[in-house]
Amino acid sequence: MAHRPRIGILTGGGDCPGLNAVIRAATKSAMRLGYDVVGFLRGYEGLVDPVSYMPLDAHNTAGILLEGGTILGSTNKGRFTSLVGEGERVQIDPQLVSQAATTVRQLGITGLICVGGDGSLGIAQQLHEHGVPVVGVPKTIDNDLCCTAFTFGFDSAVATATDALDRLHTTAASHERIMVLEVMGRHAGWIALHAGIAGGGDVILIPEIEWTFENVCRKVMEREAEGKRSTLIVVAEGAQQPGGGLVHAGCSGEGQVKLGGIGDIVGREVGRRLGRDVRTVVLGHLQRGGTPTPFDRMLATEFGAHAARLVHEGRFGEMVCYTPPDIASVLISAAIGRLSTVDPRGSAVQAARALGIGFGDDEDDGPFEGGAARSPGNV
Ligand code: F6P
Repeated sequence: MAHRPRIGILTGGGDCPGLNAVIRAATKSAMRLGYDVVGFLRGYEGLVDPVSYMPLDAHNTAGILLEGGTILGSTNKGRFTSLVGEGERVQIDPQLVSQAATTVRQLGITGLICVGGDGSLGIAQQLHEHGVPVVGVPKTIDNDLCCTAFTFGFDSAVATATDALDRLHTTAASHERIMVLEVMGRHAGWIALHAGIAGGGDVILIPEIEWTFENVCRKVMEREAEGKRSTLIVVAEGAQQPGGGLVHAGCSGEGQVKLGGIGDIVGREVGRRLGRDVRTVVLGHLQRGGTPTPFDRMLATEFGAHAARLVHEGRFGEMVCYTPPDIASVLISAAIGRLSTVDPRGSAVQAARALGIGFGDDEDDGPFEGGAARSPGNV
């Protein structure tokens, strides 16, 4: 019996809700296009010695639409990500690249779908430059990838952070407390901004807007003058301290700084200055786990199906993207190496300011100027 052509798929970098939905969609649609599908295990590691992969089909991808994580495993450490500097282009050992290319050739893979964030797509681009037929799918809870309005995983992370704020409201109100919630997002404030607005936060501190403790405390005092005895402050892990400086706990295995700790600094300093009882919650990896939201399932499904179609059409070196209302594609090279960050003049920030939400800057009390008309996603 003649072999059907094969599509490969792998998930690289940090996991996020919706990866399984992509795997399922890519598998199902690739099979309907006449392909067999294999999934490489533990990201790009599965492509090299010892090569590890599993066949994917309608049976073993059934029911995974709503599962968090990735059935293929992933890694943001390992041989493909070593020596990666923050914001720098990933430089992979050429031997690994040629091993990966050999695996793809030997297994008769027509196209390799690489699902990942900026770093993983940077690796995909290098494989592509060495002749490996790759197609990219953007994922990250941080929503910081260029050329796509949203990455799947983001909406689920925002839902988790919003739920945390909903819960913090009641306990903060009961105890008339100031509470700080630190959320993820690396160098982009998307999660803090969207969850802060959706969860009724009072102050939102993000990397894109310089803030001071004076302004944060002033906002709390203004609220108290209005009789509001509790305040919720949402802090993005990448929000720099006044005067500059990221707060982090050393380096992770892949050469990136492990962000975290700014929430505690904000909580302690605001408490000290105001003589108030402040509690801080760090949401951490809870934002990466669990069931994807319906929006993320939908986006991931469209991405997976579109990626299979790109392979079928031989459009290698491209990455699927969401340009509302369409799912489209761009060159991977156009999307990597530069971050999509919050526009401080964008509609979401302006709407928040119009409601009196503070960003810890001098514009907190300024007149609402109205931003240029932009999409609700502020991208
Ligand atoms: O990029 C996704 C992300 O969750 C960031 O928001 C966070 O800073 C980082 O990954 C955490 O990485 P790790 O899982 O290596 O701790």
